[in-house]
Amino acid sequence: MDPVQVGLLGLGTVGGGTVNVLHRNAPEIGRRAGRDIRVKLASVRTLQSDRICDTSAIELTTDPYQVVNSPGIDIVVELIGGDTLAKELVVQAIENGKHVVTANKALIALHGNEIFELARQREVMVAFEAAVAGGIPIIKAVREGLAANRIQWLAGIINGTSNFILTEMRDKGRDFDDVLAEAQALGYAEADPTFDIEGIDAAHKLTILAAISFGIPLQFDKAYTEGIGQITAADVTYAEELGYRIKHLGIARKSESGVELRVHPAMVPERRLLANVDGVMNAVVVHGDAVGPTLYYGAGAGAEPTASAVVADIVDVVRVMTSDPEHHVPHLAFQPNALSDIPVLPIDAIKTAYYLRLYADDKPGVLADITRILADQDISIEAVIQKEPVDDEPRIPVILLTHSVPEQRINAALKQIEALSSVNDKVTRIRVETLN
Ligand code: NDP
Ligand code: HSE
Repeated sequence: MDPVQVGLLGLGTVGGGTVNVLHRNAPEIGRRAGRDIRVKLASVRTLQSDRICDTSAIELTTDPYQVVNSPGIDIVVELIGGDTLAKELVVQAIENGKHVVTANKALIALHGNEIFELARQREVMVAFEAAVAGGIPIIKAVREGLAANRIQWLAGIINGTSNFILTEMRDKGRDFDDVLAEAQALGYAEADPTFDIEGIDAAHKLTILAAISFGIPLQFDKAYTEGIGQITAADVTYAEELGYRIKHLGIARKSESGVELRVHPAMVPERRLLANVDGVMNAVVVHGDAVGPTLYYGAGAGAEPTASAVVADIVDVVRVMTSDPEHHVPHLAFQPNALSDIPVLPIDAIKTAYYLRLYADDKPGVLADITRILADQDISIEAVIQKEPVDDEPRIPVILLTHSVPEQRINAALKQIEALSSVNDKVTRIRVETLN
């Protein structure tokens, strides 16, 4: 049989890794797919740049439309990123009857509902394993491996760059900006790294995970997103003193009233496996009613780990490209006409425990004022640490750990504490997740 012809859009970190893996493992991959796979054409922005892969057998172009419009291409692999040009190209490829593989979580989280509907009409596949948690086959695990379950919640470290930064800050006391620069040099970070550090990339991924776990449409605009920019070295140290690690988590939980969809730093008890996932590694805990908790762990970013997922998708597409489209695995795990309209809850509706860090005047009555405000909101305190003043600083760090409380009440209390003349500053709040 003739080889399947692949056209690549982008030949950077992931595109280059994909070419390398397809080339190095060609015999094994061919035996799995049932056909040889050949990268025939690839589009790049500039023809001159150094590549991490050998391009001698690939026709290169600076016109990405040549790839999606070429009649000789069976599968288009989109590895450009972003949600403007990438969307136009993917839509064009689908219109042309080509199957699509993408690692682009922004594209899927923002435009997936429309793209999947178009793909369904055109009877082509859109595969996106690499869009979530890099090399971990989490999409396949949730969509197919856990198909028997009612999934109750999932929580994961799903941005490699943020986890790499938090780990290096904790273990080596390194500076935030310095570690971010290294993550960029290693090819982990997004083209715009604020997507990583502000939690947007993780929210894209969580949106996808929630959709395939709960059978809901993709709703990125309803995800609560908070990044790691507010976390200081002092918070990392205080968390350790209290027996926790600070991790940047994506959490999706289904209850009778709705779905929680939130990305934020969280204090995780240090005995939990997620608390010990370090560096660029990702991990996702998925809790199903039948199977109980399951854990998926692996590299969350980087050329070949991500290429592992991209190539697996290409193999999947090759295996089923001639089969009856009605019997393909649905893009969002559930049949498109069976999606649920259960609402995504606002962040105010969640209930969790909190770590609070503030700086207060070192004088009698200040702590009493703070604890009274918390008591008035019916917030009970699990621990209080009052630190020694640093050098000649007039204010002292105060760290409080609360019991579980609705977010609405903690917001009301923080507003009052921040207004105290003895505090008069923003209180840092980190949600505590025991992951039970
Ligand atoms: P890179 O920046 O390394 O590569 C992007 C590629 O797209 C380059 O080859 C670039 O060309 C080309 N390109 C960019 N803009 C244009 C444009 N306007 N027109 C034509 N070509 C363009 O990105 P990555 O490989 O890191 O990421 C690709 C995708 O994979 C993104 O969606 C990203 O979110 C996702 N992803 C990345 C992971 C990672 O670890 N890096 C992990 C999981 C997903 P040129 O080379 O000439 O500049
Ligand atoms: N920038 C992303 C991360 C790449 O750091 O996790 C993988 O999706």
